[in-house]
Amino acid sequence: MPRRYQPSLRLRESEVTPESVYLSRRQWLAQVAAGLTFAALPGSASAFWGKESAQAPRRPLKFSPYQGPWPGGELTPEDKVTSYNNFYEFGTAKDDPAANAQGLRTRPWTLTIDGLVEKPVTLDIDSLLGWPLEERIYRLRCVEAWSMVIPWLGFPLARLLDQVKILGSARYLAFETLHDPEQMPGQRSALVGGSLPWPYVEGLRLDEARHPLALIAVGLYGRTLPPQNGAPLRLVVPWKYGFKSIKSIVRLTLTDRQPPTTWNLLAPHEYGFYANVNPAVDHPRWSQASERFIGNDGLFGMKREATALFNGYATEVAQLYQGQDLRVDY
Ligand code: MTE
Repeated sequence: MPRRYQPSLRLRESEVTPESVYLSRRQWLAQVAAGLTFAALPGSASAFWGKESAQAPRRPLKFSPYQGPWPGGELTPEDKVTSYNNFYEFGTAKDDPAANAQGLRTRPWTLTIDGLVEKPVTLDIDSLLGWPLEERIYRLRCVEAWSMVIPWLGFPLARLLDQVKILGSARYLAFETLHDPEQMPGQRSALVGGSLPWPYVEGLRLDEARHPLALIAVGLYGRTLPPQNGAPLRLVVPWKYGFKSIKSIVRLTLTDRQPPTTWNLLAPHEYGFYANVNPAVDHPRWSQASERFIGNDGLFGMKREATALFNGYATEVAQLYQGQDLRVDY
């Protein structure tokens, strides 16, 4: 039987901030007993789970529940998913994005698909939120050797690509994050955002982009994405290191050559284009053989786990790389 997604049952009493408790415990237990998933709880119940942002509050989304195999491990609690982030546009420390991204304006927001297509299109985020959404419970493995298990909401990237007629010469898909130094302090100052070239860009080979696991996420834990996790839409490619999963996307471009990617531009010998999770190929400065799982036992709990090839998705994706040497194409 697939394990149902009931983060409520995994939270410890001690992790609930008393002031933020919206539902009384009795009410909450009654709802859980009634078999409601968290996503079915009223939007205002969000206050129960984490701090609200100064932004438009995250709103609940309708979605079809995850049917796939449980990725292993427990769910990372929502407050950790939304407070331990990498989003250099808002600072390089893990708690910077949650602190600095709350003013990000996510409306109006459009996504343009252009390049080697018959006719470019520009889509509005509110129309994308009307698409049928699925829950996908995925492992996220950062190149820094920490990992989480996150219930995303979204749709396959392939569905977006179906919105355009792709020319036969296209081989790659390039992604671009919003470039707006006025809103993104890290883009204004190298002191805040490190020395990354802006905007943040990423890329996939077209067959990778069309793989059914490649997801465009618009939400997590039952509600729209918070800014620190890449609102209003971001990529999630669970078999690759987290830096491939580019946030707050404004443009997808079909191209015939391998597009530049931010971390590869910065340190090519450390971060490759492919960035497939691989315990046998170490980062030049640290081992990738194991990872620190961020679960229920505190951010610095030393729950180390062995890293799996393709982050545990080898059955699904290994055929994409047949004939490639994963040490060369790291
Ligand atoms: N996208 C943008 N635009 N800027 C970033 O700094 N960081 C990446 C990726 N996407 C990043 C980004 C890295 S290194 C990781 S591990 C994941 O986002 C982290 O996603 P999360 O904060 O939702 O866990």
